[in-house]
Amino acid sequence: MPPPGSIKIAPSILAADFANFGAECRAVEEQGADWVHVDVMDGHFVPNLTFGPATCAAIRPHIRGVMDVHLMIAPVDPYIDAFAEAGADIITAHLEAGPHIHRTLQAIRATGKMAGLALNPGTGPEAVPHLLDQLDLVCVMGVNPGFGGQRFIDVSAKVRALRAMIGDRPVHIQIDGGISVDTAPVMARAGADVLVAGSAVFKGGSADAPEAYGQNIRALRRAAEGALGTLV
Ligand code: DX5
Ligand code: ZN
Repeated sequence: MPPPGSIKIAPSILAADFANFGAECRAVEEQGADWVHVDVMDGHFVPNLTFGPATCAAIRPHIRGVMDVHLMIAPVDPYIDAFAEAGADIITAHLEAGPHIHRTLQAIRATGKMAGLALNPGTGPEAVPHLLDQLDLVCVMGVNPGFGGQRFIDVSAKVRALRAMIGDRPVHIQIDGGISVDTAPVMARAGADVLVAGSAVFKGGSADAPEAYGQNIRALRRAAEGALGTLV
């Protein structure tokens, strides 16, 4: 299990007001978010489209902390420099996005950014030991990527296996998709330390009335840390 007090909540702006990203990013950070998770979709690797590096660059000045960019695109390599220049702190690529994930992770690291590896629900963790020296984060999808608000798929066994592989190395285990106050404790106990949440953070609030974001973030953190035995 991750050490008590180490759980990070990363709101996904996929559930934010797309006409108001700057204010939405400032609002979730002011309300206690640890990272801001940015979902890039290409309509090819996943059946939905969002935005590209220009939007990431426009959002960047509105995020004080970590901008966590999740690329749901194929191919990845031709766009790594553009997302690095847009100001991403973490760039995550999918194992399923191409045949040369090792090269992709090396190319991300070469830009000076942290490298993340995302695994779809149907993908096992077997490749991870071969990639551990190239990684800063493993993103375990709790839904098939493409849309927010989907039902959580139980990936506990995969997360436990990854925690055993990673041990004390400085590699984050992130869960993305379907995180709620019900699923957050299960994932924290299995070994995840970063919880991405779209609908569970943005529900009930807005950039003008962001108190609900704060309540939602605190509820997720309390649920996850509670499972680790931390009082928050
Ligand atoms: C799914 C995205 C997720 C998504 C999570 O393709 O990568 O980041 O926004 O949304 P919720 O928390 O609503 O499942
Ligand atoms: Zn995501």
